[in-house]
Amino acid sequence: MNRFLNVGDIGDLHKALQEAMEIKNDRFKYVELGRNKTLLMVFFNSSLRTRLSTQKAALNLGMNVIVLDVNQGAWKLETERGVIMDGDKSEHLLEAIPVMGCYCDLIGVRSFAGLQDRDYDYAETIYHQFLKYSGKPVFAMETATVHPLQAFADLITIEEHKPVKRPKVVLTWAPHPKALPQAVPNSFAEWMNAADVDFVITHPEGYELDPKFVGNAVVEYDQRKALEGAHFVYAKNWSCPGVTRPADYGKVLSKDMRWTIDAEHMSWTDNAHFMHCLPVRRNMIVTDDVIEAPTSLVIPEAANREISATVVIKRMIG
Ligand code: CP
Repeated sequence: MNRFLNVGDIGDLHKALQEAMEIKNDRFKYVELGRNKTLLMVFFNSSLRTRLSTQKAALNLGMNVIVLDVNQGAWKLETERGVIMDGDKSEHLLEAIPVMGCYCDLIGVRSFAGLQDRDYDYAETIYHQFLKYSGKPVFAMETATVHPLQAFADLITIEEHKPVKRPKVVLTWAPHPKALPQAVPNSFAEWMNAADVDFVITHPEGYELDPKFVGNAVVEYDQRKALEGAHFVYAKNWSCPGVTRPADYGKVLSKDMRWTIDAEHMSWTDNAHFMHCLPVRRNMIVTDDVIEAPTSLVIPEAANREISATVVIKRMIG
């Protein structure tokens, strides 16, 4: 496995889940696999969970880890070809990437969407430049349009807590003050479509996700109808994906607080578990009482980030 961006890259999901459980039972089982191998984690954006859990995963596998925060202490990088570099950017990504590749065996990249140019973001330009020019396997630590390590951890969490063989899982948009990328909902939708669940997406009109991620999901604009009978409620904000109106790409079209998940919303479900990838804005996305309830899975999801990353890195160095 030399790339990890989409659900198809992991292969058989059932086998991947079995491997996750094996590692959860003995997370140091493959500690010899990474001896004298180095993971380079490259961050263009902030992180708490991804930074810690991916580093821990590499340590579980006996690897060395280098972390580069591109915006803190490295040369400012130009990412576009053809630019006359007479501004504040001292180095081009097309030299920086192969140099980074000289010092490691595996690269993880975090680079969010700019939310200005849909085609540039959805082409996953930065990720593919790393894949092409580093000469090393590259995995996504949340890129412009996907966050597969999060979606894999979410799937592990659903498997561990599902009350029925085929649970109803609802992805619901919720309000947020700022424009956020679509990476988390895109990957969550992609992975739920591949999993053994009944999957429903609900959001206000204008927030339609890209059809390649929506897949066979039921899209229900009435949030109450969508939540009825749910076993898992996955709340997340995202900005306009620009599917129905390309000019609105990356915009905040609504801050409607009626979509905030509170106790009344949860009462429409089948005693559902609440899920969110974190970080979360309390009392915008979800009320204090819901996120603090025993049915909330936000901490187990974060804990499973270590497991999903261990499986992925193991496969990429194995
Ligand atoms: N869920 C997640 O990726 O968290 P961080 O942004 O803190 O890494």
